[in-house]
Amino acid sequence: MAKHRRRDRRFRFALAAVIAAAASVPVVAAAMPSTSARPDIVGGTEASVRDYPYAVFLTDKSGNQFCGGVIVSPTAVATAAHCAKAVARTDLRVVAGRQDKRTNDGKVVSVRDVWIPSSFSDPGKGDDVAVLKLSQSLPYRTVNLPGDDSLYAEGTKATVLGWGRTADGGARSDVLRSAVVPVVSDDGCRSSYSNYDSRSMVCAGYPQGEIDACQGDSGGPLVVGDTLIGIVSWGDGCARPGKPGVYTRVITYADEIRSEADPSRRVFW
Ligand code: ARG
Repeated sequence: MAKHRRRDRRFRFALAAVIAAAASVPVVAAAMPSTSARPDIVGGTEASVRDYPYAVFLTDKSGNQFCGGVIVSPTAVATAAHCAKAVARTDLRVVAGRQDKRTNDGKVVSVRDVWIPSSFSDPGKGDDVAVLKLSQSLPYRTVNLPGDDSLYAEGTKATVLGWGRTADGGARSDVLRSAVVPVVSDDGCRSSYSNYDSRSMVCAGYPQGEIDACQGDSGGPLVVGDTLIGIVSWGDGCARPGKPGVYTRVITYADEIRSEADPSRRVFW
């Protein structure tokens, strides 16, 4: 059963690669899962922090990874509001430059201030975004914020990154994973989720499911090239057919993120 499914997936990946090559579309992470690596985020592959230096994860004070994040300025990380609220600010840590959680690579920094839109209450209602202002600066490349709507066109291939579960209800990944998912139209997403809000959310995924973000990926980036279009927010299970991943629509918050991330904006008290 599992074997058949794997063969089927491999065939599909090979087919996708052939089609992409024929259309001379760059094959981003159409890479098929190697035999040693289990497919993950759900249905993705291991990724390198050298390729995605702005991808970070959040831990609590005992070092448990619980969410992702993305570097938007040397002293600021964007994440989901529900992630920023999950742990007391003083216990929150940002881990950057560490592909494998089991190592001590990269840098760990604490958070001096958190911005969350005052309208946020629940991911299902939108506004699931936060900016963590760091106590020290990070020596890693920042992600770009979108300038217009063009990257939200239906079918745009985006890459989601994270250290979350590699199967619905499964264990979290020790290493950074990436997967390519197409942007879903507003109408398409509304037909999957009655509470979909096209101002604050964007969906990405395949009609058949199979490839998606999952628990523990929240707060992490959905990028097109090096431009951040989404932040992992919620979904019905993971990788289920007809249930794409729902992401925070970054363009809606780009100006606020930019101004909150600006290191010249000081907090006085
Ligand atoms: N809320 C989850 C988290 O806190 C992310 C869920 C994303 N789900 C999905 N099917 N894309 O990690």
